[in-house]
Amino acid sequence: MLDFREKVVDLIESQIEFLNRDEIQALIEIPPSADMGNYAFPVFTLSRQYRKAPNMIAEELVSKFGENQYFEKIESVGPYINFFINREKLIETVMNDIRFKGERFGSSNMGEDKTVIVEYSSPNIAKPFHIGHIRTTVIGNAIHNIYKFLGFNTVAINHLGDYGTQFGMLISAYKKWGDKKVIEADPINELLKLYVRFNSEAEEDAKLRDEARYWFKELENGNKEAVELWTWIREISLKEFNKVYDMLNIKFDSYAGESFYSDKMPAVIEELKEKNLMKESDGAYLVDLEEYNMPPALIMKSDGSTLYTTRDIAAAFYRKKTYNFYKNIYVVASQQNLHFKQWMKVIELMGYEWAKDCIHIPFGMVSLEDGTLSTRKGRVVFLEDVLNTAIDNTLKIIEERNPNLENKEEVAKQVGIGAVIFQELFNQRIKDYVFTWDRTLSFEGETGPYVQYTHARANSLLEKGQFDTKDTVDYSLLEGEDELNVIRLLYDFPKVVVNAMEKNEPYFITRHIVEIAKTFNKFYTNSHIIVDDIELKKARLMLTYATKTVIKIGLGLLGIEAPNRM
Ligand code: ARG
Repeated sequence: MLDFREKVVDLIESQIEFLNRDEIQALIEIPPSADMGNYAFPVFTLSRQYRKAPNMIAEELVSKFGENQYFEKIESVGPYINFFINREKLIETVMNDIRFKGERFGSSNMGEDKTVIVEYSSPNIAKPFHIGHIRTTVIGNAIHNIYKFLGFNTVAINHLGDYGTQFGMLISAYKKWGDKKVIEADPINELLKLYVRFNSEAEEDAKLRDEARYWFKELENGNKEAVELWTWIREISLKEFNKVYDMLNIKFDSYAGESFYSDKMPAVIEELKEKNLMKESDGAYLVDLEEYNMPPALIMKSDGSTLYTTRDIAAAFYRKKTYNFYKNIYVVASQQNLHFKQWMKVIELMGYEWAKDCIHIPFGMVSLEDGTLSTRKGRVVFLEDVLNTAIDNTLKIIEERNPNLENKEEVAKQVGIGAVIFQELFNQRIKDYVFTWDRTLSFEGETGPYVQYTHARANSLLEKGQFDTKDTVDYSLLEGEDELNVIRLLYDFPKVVVNAMEKNEPYFITRHIVEIAKTFNKFYTNSHIIVDDIELKKARLMLTYATKTVIKIGLGLLGIEAPNRM
């Protein structure tokens, strides 16, 4: 698509020889309001070379630019030069590009030949998959979609918490109180019950802890019974997790979790020893990080068992070797900031420059409105329940709003789940936020249902007006301010996607499509779309089609479906 900002650079470059294109790009600003143009170029920094007052420089430059097909007005205001994009050129550029690319509008090949790993979700087996896990799952999936859309090779990894001392506890607990049939009927809950019971009985009877340690050691040593139990627990749990992933339409390329790295840790420990990075302390091994103001990274306990950190180091090596990543991204709660800083530092100290390509993408906490359900208070909310509640409540809303809708259940699923995802992705990820049902499911305001509804409404207009993308359209008929405002936002969409990728912030997209929906609805409220004048109708339908397409792309990147009727 024609890039008007580049055209600004062309113009400036043609008049100023001592600034290169990158320097010019960096100076260009987006004015705070449309009456100041689409782009502004400040000239203060040039006064030394010109030995003139900035406003004089601006005036002189403008007089040299002359007529230009891309800008209908270029004016100097004090030390700024303001550029106003040629309206028809803009409309034609955006509309033709959307018409041509359809649902690939905004995609690119900037990521060609670069592999990006996005690790997300990564729940712990036999511990609950709770509302906090929804954040990593939803944010990670969106980030993954965005990289893919921009042409990167992507690998979605679920680093399952499928190893560690909790398995020792589970195996002991199962051997004491477990019942295969009961567990298979409701694995996550029943395993959790065993885990909780084991912990509470261990408070009374310390011998249980030794037993758990014994069974974990047996598991590490490959004891047949322990390995069989572990495999079974892992499989039935994964089956449950997959139910939720299916609801969210999420697929992983790899489920290599913590256990996968068991045989890959000795090499790490060897290398740390060789490089003289490890210290012994009371029989345990650690990497001292005092110099970097961090507590030491624990590599091996005194009983020889390895730790979370060691597994992450081994995993990073494996990923580098297997995928030769350009970026290796971890979408994990901010509570683990220190953990990621520590092990990434260890890799850096080992001398691997790719340590800098390992990136922790943290996010804040979510709590539920009444507080009682927050995980901090010890009660757990299962993600599956949250999604099911969203679906049920949405179904009720649909029954009221549109009782004759076909396949209501399917739509309620798309809207209910979409609403939860949308709320998750509405704010900067690092912010803590409170989940409220009213806001999430409302069809008004800055919500998923509102954006989806705008999409469905656009769709019904297109059907009613029998719009055909091959129709020729006279763009000059899109002459109002409302139309132009929608088009500006559509034009910005591809850049918003790139920004979202660079900052790993899906909420840029969420906010942008809300803005598109609002602006389009304003246009729709103020002007009829299905009018008698055939040419005018076609032009307005073209804008409707463009809006619908971009909203659908945006929702898709966030992991939300866009039903045609709701
Ligand atoms: N399983 C961990 C948890 O639920 C998250 C794993 C994060 N990823 C990692 N590579 N350490 O807290």
